[in-house]
Amino acid sequence: MKTTKLVMLVMTIAVALFILIPNLSWAADDGATLYKAKCAMCHGPDAAGKPAAKIPSLISDEAKKMSDDDLAKAVTEKPRHAGVAKSLTPDRVKTVVTYVRSLQK
Ligand code: HEC
Repeated sequence: MKTTKLVMLVMTIAVALFILIPNLSWAADDGATLYKAKCAMCHGPDAAGKPAAKIPSLISDEAKKMSDDDLAKAVTEKPRHAGVAKSLTPDRVKTVVTYVRSLQK
């Protein structure tokens, strides 16, 4: 009987962790996750942009020449980004810029 209870307890904890882990902040602040949630719908999953909709590529030579600061400013200050910028803390902007850099390689 005791063993069954222990197994149930372990199972409950395992299920609770399984549900909680995706909600922990470190998971939400992963660059790829942030990019997918906040940028991919406009700039595309591979950051190539959508020329037909006048959405610039983030992996173009011009974008590669931009400094990290320029990229971060573009994210926070462009009127087109008003909706998305609201939900990004400065740390998250940095994380997403780092991810964009990794796509440029
Ligand atoms: C609602 C659609 C939309 C979303 C969401 C969006 N962007 Fe943009 N982004 C644009 C458009 C349109 C432009 C070009 C217009 C402009 O320069 O104001 C742009 C421009 C940029 C530029 C400047 C590129 C250049 O060559 O000057 C960067 C960098 C950028 N976006 C990064 C991001 C990142 C990172 C995210 C996610 C945090 C994001 N964008 C989310 C639409 C979007």
